[in-house]
Amino acid sequence: MLEGKRVLIGVGGGIAAYKVCDLVSTLAKAGAAVQAVLTDGAQQFVTPLTFATLCRHPAYTDRDFWQPTHSRPLHIELGEWADVMAIAPLTANTLAKLAYGLADNLLTNTVLASTCPVLLAPAMNTDMWQQQSVQRNWQLVQQDARYHAVGPGAGILACDRVGMGRMAEPPQILAHLQSLLYTGGHRDLAGRQILISTGGTREYLDPVRFIGNPSTGKMGLALAQAAAHRGATVTLVHAPMEAGLLASLQGVRLIPVVSADQMRQSMLNYFPEADWTIMAAAVADVKPADYSSQKLPKRSLPEVLPLAAVPDIVAELGGLKQPHQRLVGFAAQTGDILAPALEKLKRKKLDAIVANPVDQPDSGFGGDRNQAIFLDAQGRQAAIGPCSKLEMAHRVLTLLL
Ligand code: C5P
Repeated sequence: MLEGKRVLIGVGGGIAAYKVCDLVSTLAKAGAAVQAVLTDGAQQFVTPLTFATLCRHPAYTDRDFWQPTHSRPLHIELGEWADVMAIAPLTANTLAKLAYGLADNLLTNTVLASTCPVLLAPAMNTDMWQQQSVQRNWQLVQQDARYHAVGPGAGILACDRVGMGRMAEPPQILAHLQSLLYTGGHRDLAGRQILISTGGTREYLDPVRFIGNPSTGKMGLALAQAAAHRGATVTLVHAPMEAGLLASLQGVRLIPVVSADQMRQSMLNYFPEADWTIMAAAVADVKPADYSSQKLPKRSLPEVLPLAAVPDIVAELGGLKQPHQRLVGFAAQTGDILAPALEKLKRKKLDAIVANPVDQPDSGFGGDRNQAIFLDAQGRQAAIGPCSKLEMAHRVLTLLL
């Protein structure tokens, strides 16, 4: 998603600038062409040399802006060059300039001389962030379709306070940049309610033992992230997942569940309001027939565990589906993936199914990459990947449009 893409990073004067070095390094290693513009404030924290070295390209400051050595004005060159721009950290000062269209330095002139999407990653002290003037400016910029917001979050700040104002982490900014590059910044899912399930359910035998599977929930998380970046209203019903993964989601309603029965109940609750429902969860197909509320002593564990079936959630939703609703399933398969996926598509009354070969490299549980065949009820087939789970998520959403 980044190979050959032109990314312009505007660095503001905040301590979070040190984290942006990492972001630039990741972008460059992923094959993106990266250039950086540093404000005067930014240079108090990081140097142009740091960025030039990481970008493998000159990094620009206001001194370059006022030099008569460029054949064309630098801000125009940079503005025309960029496919996407990120301003990180975005300070209260630069935010105010963007809100009112001021242009008194290279960075703000470049923003005004460009038309690409601009991702804004604010970072500041909690009191600064909560000022009415700052909040007003933040609302103002978000009325402009060009600007996309990532963060800020809550956490420990460099001023030793714990509160709002912490810059989004580099992986979160990176994911959002990738989405903007994919869509060109269009919020093509605005107004859509999307319900997604993810993660592996746990079917407990007693308080400490369960039947589960290795699903990490990353595919559903990528779907939620991609849909939110494209303007959808997203609800994510998730089985137990690593907290750090969930923290990377912004603007997504999270509904935690543990067992298939709980997932079924939550999916039934939110299904009526959903335009699209995507069932990416790895639901355990069986549960222990009995549950003990006390931990069973080892000697009391049965040699053969009696099992009971869990409800097929997506098939139940297929029966409830209204004509305006779309229902998508996933089929994790080994061996032949097409025939069983087609059979599930029909039997569960799905509009589409994403069949992924979990026995192939670059695919399935745990990793950041995946590959699949998308099949729909109209007989369409599309191969996706191998690619990142975020790219697969975008491809699936585009196929549903
Ligand atoms: O039948 P199979 O489990 O392979 O079907 C996969 C699809 O069905 C996935 O979308 C999965 O989330 C869903 N599923 C479900 N309830 C189950 C089992 C699977 O909704 N009990």
